[in-house]
Amino acid sequence: MSSAKVDVYSGGIYRHSLFVEKLNLSFCQFFIKAPSGAVLCIETGMRGDFPSLKSNLSSAGIEVDAIGSVIVPHFEADEMGALPEFAAHNKAVVAYAHPICSHALADVFSVKSKPLKDEVPVTINEETIVPVFTKHVHQWDSLVVYVPRLKALFSSDVFMRFGPVEGGSADPLPQIIASIEKSGYLPSLDHLQVALQKISKYDVETIFPMHGPAISGDAVAATVNGLIEYCMEKRTTADGKLDSEEWRTSKV
Ligand SMILES: [Fe+2]
Ligand SMILES: [Fe+2]
Repeated sequence: MSSAKVDVYSGGIYRHSLFVEKLNLSFCQFFIKAPSGAVLCIETGMRGDFPSLKSNLSSAGIEVDAIGSVIVPHFEADEMGALPEFAAHNKAVVAYAHPICSHALADVFSVKSKPLKDEVPVTINEETIVPVFTKHVHQWDSLVVYVPRLKALFSSDVFMRFGPVEGGSADPLPQIIASIEKSGYLPSLDHLQVALQKISKYDVETIFPMHGPAISGDAVAATVNGLIEYCMEKRTTADGKLDSEEWRTSKV
């Protein structure tokens, strides 16, 4: 069974979430309404889920025909699968992504795409965003999106957690670590640590993961720093040379 809904946060953030009970995993897509009314999409969700996404967004006051910009955090079905549907509703839609990903999107979907630059602010839809490349977390073309106006980080698959989007605990770290170890979705703790250190430079009040509850307040720094410590600890247990299979099967 699946259930979908839209949650609205201050500053014009709309989170559409689909919880898939069979996977015990939620899939979120984010829509940021700028003060001008323009809407920026981060993550499209999967193609098969688009009709439900469209209908739920419409109920929340957002029409997909009016969405002209889509940020794709990496080339994977839940991040970009519905891009052709967005393009079908708005022929002028532009997809923004890591250079490798943007080439693939243009080639596969024949949509207009623009490459982002690592940690170079860019204004899209009248909203300034900072793309932060998080190479190999868990794809080579991964990135997360920081929005300074909102002090919000849209973290894609970083900080993923199994379970629904409701009821996040005050200390999400144990659940995040358990989810990393259960899923084995990260190829390298080295790369995760580099990504976390990049993220830690930004003034973040709320993290919006694609999978799992939002993280806010003191839990933001505690989670980022706690995960950095986790990476360092796991690496030093094998002289920093843990390969993916070793660390997946080792215990915390
Ligand atoms: Fe992914
Ligand atoms: Fe994902």
